[in-house]
Amino acid sequence: MGYQTPRGTQDLLQDDTRKWLAVESLIRSVCSVYGYDEVRTPIFESTPVFKRENDSSDMVNKEMYTFSINGEDSLTLRPEGTAGIIRSFVEHKMYGRLEMPAKIYYMGEMFRYERPQKGRYRQFNQFGIENIGAKSPIVDAETIALGYSILKALGLSQVKVLINTLGDDESRNNYRTALKEHFKDCIGELCSDCQRRYEQNPLRILDCKVDHEHPSLVSAPSLQDYLNDESREYFNEVLAALDALEIPYEIDDRLVRGLDYYTHTVFEVVSTHPESGSQATVFAGGRYDNLVQYFGGPEMSGVGFAMGMERLMILCEAEGIKFDEDEGIDCYIMSLGNVKNVPLQVATSLRAAGYVTEMDVLKRGLKAQFKSVDRKKAKIAVIVGESELANHQVNIKNIATQEQITVNIDEVVDVVDKWLMSESLEG
Ligand code: HAM
Repeated sequence: MGYQTPRGTQDLLQDDTRKWLAVESLIRSVCSVYGYDEVRTPIFESTPVFKRENDSSDMVNKEMYTFSINGEDSLTLRPEGTAGIIRSFVEHKMYGRLEMPAKIYYMGEMFRYERPQKGRYRQFNQFGIENIGAKSPIVDAETIALGYSILKALGLSQVKVLINTLGDDESRNNYRTALKEHFKDCIGELCSDCQRRYEQNPLRILDCKVDHEHPSLVSAPSLQDYLNDESREYFNEVLAALDALEIPYEIDDRLVRGLDYYTHTVFEVVSTHPESGSQATVFAGGRYDNLVQYFGGPEMSGVGFAMGMERLMILCEAEGIKFDEDEGIDCYIMSLGNVKNVPLQVATSLRAAGYVTEMDVLKRGLKAQFKSVDRKKAKIAVIVGESELANHQVNIKNIATQEQITVNIDEVVDVVDKWLMSESLEG
């Protein structure tokens, strides 16, 4: 019996990583035009970075990979990126050193012990951004715009933005009280998770996957009715900014998000493509007013989102997005007879000049080597033969024109320069 990847994980093979790299490079260039820089934090953090007091989310309560070795303090594999970034923001006092807002992006593996299915894994990758130190509806809209522009740049069309506001602390506290009152008599009929949520954070009940059709959830009061003027005004300004950018959205007053730290704006961008199935949220996030202070920093608000890379790739596949085809290599070095290290030397000088170069290392016959030239779509074949080598020469063949000449070894790079240059001018 061979080994297999653990449940909820997957290998990315050569064809996959080629696509991932193309998408990651597009993401990096969008981040760069928006003025975001990358920060890389550890894959594990001390557990309280994620498990904050009285946190009611499933992610924190059920899904974390937590361990302790040799009796040392408990550590947790990161289930998301935001907490680690804010920890780092405060630890390195970025608020004192950098122009505010700080604009940070990150990419990497996250770990959640979830029931695996298409689009949901135990190890998955997120690309995320955090904009910290500017509480402005414009920044909320700009954050959504950054993520949205990545989807558009990839050519994805079947997506929609769902948006809601959780209001400020006052609005949310009023709403929590109203929800507690509303669920008071029927909480016994709801699932055990909802009963925990009732105590910890009744807002979370609205997000329950088990009870979402229970009459008490359907008739629950709406947060919209508990917003104070300031919170309502803030939300209206976010919507006005999205209108100005012509980003279509739907207000979803049941959207509360799965994590506890949100205040004001929350959003989820979902695919409407039939193949995206139940795991349709491609990126999601919102504003957090209290997280920086929680980590011991100044009173500063932030906003951000994270995009599930695996889900993004599934959507690209579903919408038939094409990535660059394998364009083939520049040079293939063939060997004939006892030519010792010369093919390796020629390949190394071509590679140093920037040409994608392969060579035969299997000591195969000429026919098999020409097959490789074909299969690898090489533009030029360099044939290192024992007899030419006696005169310090090799044969070099331009595959497109079929021209073949004998040149001094030292001239190979010049000839390749000339041939490939004229080809790129013509092409
Ligand atoms: P989240 O909604 O937990 O938010 O995750 C964001 C995205 O990560 C999801 O929309 C989904 O695309 C992807 N994702 C989550 N769990 C999985 C999984 N098990 N398998 C595959 N993909 C998954 C956050 O993580 C927040 N930190 C976002 C944020 C940033 N809020 C403010 N700043």
